[in-house]
Amino acid sequence: MTNIPNLTEDGAAVSSADRVVLAYSGGVDTTACIPYLKQELGCKFVVAMAADLGQGDELEPIREKALLAGADVAVVVDAKERFVREFGFPAIQANALYDAHYPLSSALGRPLIGELLVDTAHEYGCGAVAHGCTGKGNDQVRLDLAATLLDPNLTILAPARLWDFSRAETIAYSEKFGIPSHVTKEKPWAIDLNILGRNVEAGLIEDLQWEPTEEVWSLTTSVEETPDRPAYVSIEFAEGMPTTIDGETLSPLLLMTRLNALAGTHGIGRVDMIENRVVGLKSRELYEVPGMHLLIQAHRELENLVLPADVLAHKATVDSTYAKLIYDGLWYGPLKRALDAFIRDTQQFVTGEIKLKLFKGTSTIVGRTAPKAMYRPELVTYGAESTFNQKSAEGFIDIFGLSSRVWSQTHG
Ligand code: ARG
Repeated sequence: MTNIPNLTEDGAAVSSADRVVLAYSGGVDTTACIPYLKQELGCKFVVAMAADLGQGDELEPIREKALLAGADVAVVVDAKERFVREFGFPAIQANALYDAHYPLSSALGRPLIGELLVDTAHEYGCGAVAHGCTGKGNDQVRLDLAATLLDPNLTILAPARLWDFSRAETIAYSEKFGIPSHVTKEKPWAIDLNILGRNVEAGLIEDLQWEPTEEVWSLTTSVEETPDRPAYVSIEFAEGMPTTIDGETLSPLLLMTRLNALAGTHGIGRVDMIENRVVGLKSRELYEVPGMHLLIQAHRELENLVLPADVLAHKATVDSTYAKLIYDGLWYGPLKRALDAFIRDTQQFVTGEIKLKLFKGTSTIVGRTAPKAMYRPELVTYGAESTFNQKSAEGFIDIFGLSSRVWSQTHG
């Protein structure tokens, strides 16, 4: 338990309602949130919380920036390993792809950030949590829902939903309070990065006819530049959890890092899609998800080898519901828990190894093995050693086709 200072600088008492934890990234918007919370929304004590989900930023300068902007306390939480193990890997077990293409790399980070906000609020005796999301996106839905589902007593403050600032006005607002804007050369799009993947949206990407130029991408090599020789990689799963690469046992974070680098080098995992946002808007989004792409492909193949057809068919519907609930920010809701129980049951058999060939932007499965594989060569083979009784097939088809035959006769 942290020592909670209960007085402001001028000695006034601060109640928990005046104390807020802000999800802080170091960007223009969340930085402007700090003076806004204090000046416009009357907060007396602001804790800035930056979560490290593998975005590759240096966190210490970000912490210092929060203090410079007027935060009373600034904390950094290293959540990378947890992020991959508890959020990324369950999504892989569910083969989770939203709108058929998006492996939810950004979406999965929000419930974790929400949870860390709530924990930090409890630690510092805060009655409110805040974030810098606008009212047009999905992230506000995910953070608001995570916070409210974990602690319904917390107030949620979202300055960027209240102010009507343009980019320039946001910077000017911060400068009014002596916060240097460090205006770096702004990119004509917005980026969200973590260890599961990278998202690029807005700006030039809004033009549906615009083909992304190479500067848009950073985790993946353009196919024109990828190696002229393929690479092979074997991924082992134990009960649905990725555990080794080429026989080497790795932590979830290391495994993800390695696969991102390897698949990225071969130009795998680029996505350019139209996405259906929670708030009803369609938006064009670009993603780079090299590691997630390989892991979902390999996991799906392994499931296909070990699970019976009816379980697979039902799981496909569970998987798509699961992807949607992650997208919609319902990670801490009751449906997620119920679906987890089904997924957990299926995953106890998903153990084995999948080998992939990576070449020029595509990954192809070239090997599969599993101790509990349902694939039976002695049944399926056309060789003389087959044990399948083909004579039974005629009777099977007779009964199997009965209903359809009756229909044909009646309507023929
Ligand atoms: N559209 C994606 C999603 O909703 C990416 C969001 C990225 N967030 C951001 N603040 N740029 O999951």
